Amino acid sequence: VIDQQIIQKKQAGEFAATLITDGMIVGLGTGSTVRFFIEALAAKINNEGLNITGVTTSNKTSSLAKSLGIKLASVDEVPMIDLTIDGADEVDHQLNGIKGGGAALLFEKIVALNSKKNIWIIDESKYHEVIGQFPLPVEVVPYGSHHLLKKFLAADMQPTFRRTATGERVTTDVGNYIIDLHLNRIEYPQSLAYFLEQTIGVVEHGLFLKTVDEVIIGGNQPTLISNT
Ligand code: A5P
Repeated sequence: VIDQQIIQKKQAGEFAATLITDGMIVGLGTGSTVRFFIEALAAKINNEGLNITGVTTSNKTSSLAKSLGIKLASVDEVPMIDLTIDGADEVDHQLNGIKGGGAALLFEKIVALNSKKNIWIIDESKYHEVIGQFPLPVEVVPYGSHHLLKKFLAADMQPTFRRTATGERVTTDVGNYIIDLHLNRIEYPQSLAYFLEQTIGVVEHGLFLKTVDEVIIGGNQPTLISNT
């Protein structure tokens, strides 16, 4: 099963690279699926001599893109990103998504909002009728975060601070913590998003609603689902 997921991630990533054309400003997401895309994109840039500018969503992606010789600019240095290719942790049939499994949700959302078009690349195991099986990442300011955890606990949201393998709290690229909410089924993503956005101390949440234009699911013939 795992192998199949990796194969599909690679298929989706390589297919996405075929959508990039000369002169584009391309948003580069974060994660193992996007890694396949970035590798294929770097090869395409070299083979076809393309002029592409990448805008990254995390320090991790910046190092990868730099190591492959992709020219980069920050989101503030470009007028608008033409197309962003990102991964997702779970996607429902309305193309609502959960992102932030790689702790990069804040920059991913900023890049997505400043893109003319957003495409997510996933393997089919992430495509569900209702999202929520994947714990929902919430990026919070460290100051007061214990009280936030208690608030989520009281609301029966099964919160946990995300920790590294050695037990320290995970910090994002801008030094915030991640609280994962184990919700299992998110029936009303809009109201949950609203609740989180009203909660002081929450910087951003991993619900990406009405964000994506197309989702590519890896396969021998990748499946393209449009948000229409
Ligand atoms: C990063 O913060 C996430 O939004 C990623 O897009 C997500 O975790 C997908 O990762 P994989 O491609 O490694 O499954």
